[in-house]
Amino acid sequence: MKILAIIGSYRKHGNTARAVECIQHELELLASARGQTIENETLFLGELELDACRGCRTCFDRDEGKCPLKDGGLEMRARLLAADGLIVASPIYVDDVSGITKTWIDRLAFLCHRPALARQSVLLVTSVAGTPSDHAMRTLSTALLTWGAHIAGQVSFKMGALMPREDLPTLDAQAHRAARRLFDALQRREHERPSFISLMTFRIQQITWRGAPPGSVDHNHWLENGWLEPCCQFYIPHRASALKATLARWMGTLITRLVT
Ligand SMILES: Cc1cc2nc3c(=O)[nH]c(=O)nc-3n(C[C@H](O)[C@H](O)[C@H](O)COP(=O)(O)O)c2cc1C
Repeated sequence: MKILAIIGSYRKHGNTARAVECIQHELELLASARGQTIENETLFLGELELDACRGCRTCFDRDEGKCPLKDGGLEMRARLLAADGLIVASPIYVDDVSGITKTWIDRLAFLCHRPALARQSVLLVTSVAGTPSDHAMRTLSTALLTWGAHIAGQVSFKMGALMPREDLPTLDAQAHRAARRLFDALQRREHERPSFISLMTFRIQQITWRGAPPGSVDHNHWLENGWLEPCCQFYIPHRASALKATLARWMGTLITRLVT
């Protein structure tokens, strides 16, 4: 199993990186206890020097490959798709994710129109000095859900300005629980049992892109994937219960009618 950790902090040895290391270590222990191996890869967004989205809408209206920013931002998509599991981690900056994490989300915003991550399970991680992480978690989960990913879990580590190395073992139990959530999601192929909210998000998108101009990039993408078929309930064949899928579809239709 391949797990890609994306770290939205410039501090390579900072709190967020340390918290992720703890989780990666726990994942390796969980895998080896079952005679399996985990391939952990870490990507520091600070090293990519991603430029901020210019808002030109080229990725939305023409194609993401035509983005005028040539800084490797696009390679991110392939790296995400190559992993079975993702750890998306950010420090909290003034109640939200860090600037580079938000830039990363914005640069991949075309995935909100053309979701691609329905086969990936994601663990969302924040590190914070002391305040709650709810707002930042909402930022992360909204993006990842809309990109089609399965949210396996969320964990927030309270670590002060920089947690001393000797205090890191106090995080072990929390890191273990978080690793367990991601590991179990991968073992059980939980992404094939999408949540109510994932199914509902799909339905809202389906109605939206069905109404997009025929021939547009988004409409074509949904058409070519078979996602506009009336019987299609999710990006991939799923094992959610028929009742959940029907209710989510109905709720998605209702919400779309109310807001458009
Ligand atoms: C610009 C900035 C803003 C921050 N805002 C908050 C905040 O709103 N609440 C909080 O508890 N900690 C805040 N912190 C502290 C960091 O979230 C915390 O120390 C985090 O673990 C740092 O992670 P890092 O070492 O990976 O950068 C802030 C730190 C910085 C540099």
